[in-house]
Amino acid sequence: MASLLSLISLVGVAQAQFGGGSAMLRFGCSNIVIDRIDPLVDPGKIPSPHVHQIIGGDAFNATMPMSDISEIAKCTSCTFEEDFSNYWTANVYYKSPKNGTYKRVPIMVNDAIGAANGGMTVYYSSPGKGQTTAFKPGFRMFSGNAARRTPTNLGRRTQSCFRCYDGPNFQGNIMSPCFDPVRDTEGFPAKPCPGGWRSSVIFPICWDGKNLDTPNHVDHVADPVDGPASFTSMGGKCPASHPVKIPQVHLEIVWDTSAFNKKEDWPTDGTQPFVLSHGDTTGYGQHGDYVFGWKGDSLQQAMDNACFATNCRQLKSQTFAKANQCVVKNAVKENNDGWLQTLPGALAQLFLLDADVGCVPVGTICAEITRQEPVKATHPLHRSEIPFRPQAYAGRLRCYGR
Ligand SMILES: *[C@@H]1O[C@H](CO)[C@@H](O)[C@H](O)[C@H]1NC(C)=O
Ligand SMILES: *[C@@H]1O[C@H](CO)[C@@H](O)[C@H](O)[C@H]1NC(C)=O
Repeated sequence: MASLLSLISLVGVAQAQFGGGSAMLRFGCSNIVIDRIDPLVDPGKIPSPHVHQIIGGDAFNATMPMSDISEIAKCTSCTFEEDFSNYWTANVYYKSPKNGTYKRVPIMVNDAIGAANGGMTVYYSSPGKGQTTAFKPGFRMFSGNAARRTPTNLGRRTQSCFRCYDGPNFQGNIMSPCFDPVRDTEGFPAKPCPGGWRSSVIFPICWDGKNLDTPNHVDHVADPVDGPASFTSMGGKCPASHPVKIPQVHLEIVWDTSAFNKKEDWPTDGTQPFVLSHGDTTGYGQHGDYVFGWKGDSLQQAMDNACFATNCRQLKSQTFAKANQCVVKNAVKENNDGWLQTLPGALAQLFLLDADVGCVPVGTICAEITRQEPVKATHPLHRSEIPFRPQAYAGRLRCYGR
């Protein structure tokens, strides 16, 4: 009954805040691929530095045009047929404290979603008819900060959080995402979660009204003046710099940690064993990428007609049996599963980090400032071969012996 309860509480939150005209789509999308490409942050790079799980339309590619991708895509892994958008986030790995190898944590299907193949739950919310402007073809954005390793200190109004379930079947899933003072944390849960845990990635809801994208994929959008938050922030005021309210895109991914919950499988030093695929052991660097791809004005119609969950007369639905057939071939052929010696792309990550402190000679010992765990530059890669994103990794690494 957790599903019914949580959905009812979501309706309650939305309607108490905004009255009857509010809209909140909630639907599932299966994975179309798990791959090491990132058309937003590292366009054209095959492979990109870290692994992602991707959902949505099959126009997903290492390079994606600014044109209308709903015209290119042939299918979608989402249950709303009009949604050819792509959404992607970092994967989660478990690191064995016994031998240091990594295993990808499986995704489980969210509450009241249906027979998805892994994937995510997608929300689009609007406070009322005519109050949000749907995205334009070519629009894309990024949520979060991959380099973050410390809390934002925004209290419950965060853009990213984890919910620790009390037990199987989403036990304890009562409050709006990121608002539960007991079960929600901005970093990885510090203790094993008997029912697994859920990632929430919430995108900004204010737009500058002009740019479909900006170089860092963030500057054309903004949070409301009171800060980010799950559904309730939809009523917030947008800053003058970003006056146009856009639907709130919000992703949930549920992780089946059951294979890694035993006490003996956790580190004895009080740390937790999970790591995001970009090497973040804190969880504060959780992030999401979005490329808009709804057909025509279908999203605007859904937002203006009080659509709720999967109930929307303006949209067409498909079964998961059909949605699950929409897949994209891997661009990078590598093992993302099994017990891995390193996170996929670990060398590229290492060198990205090195690049911030200048080119580090092979054999140099470096430490992540937040962890003080030394890593050794072991591979003679040239800086020019590696995508360089100083803003994403600045200040994370200190190297000795140069
Ligand atoms: C992806 O891009 C490659 C070239 O970069 C192109 O050959 C291929 O058709 C594209 N796939 C899709 C689905 O757009
Ligand atoms: C590493 O340890 C895990 C348990 O923590 C185990 O399942 C796995 O088989 C081990 N791998 C190797 C290569 O020993």
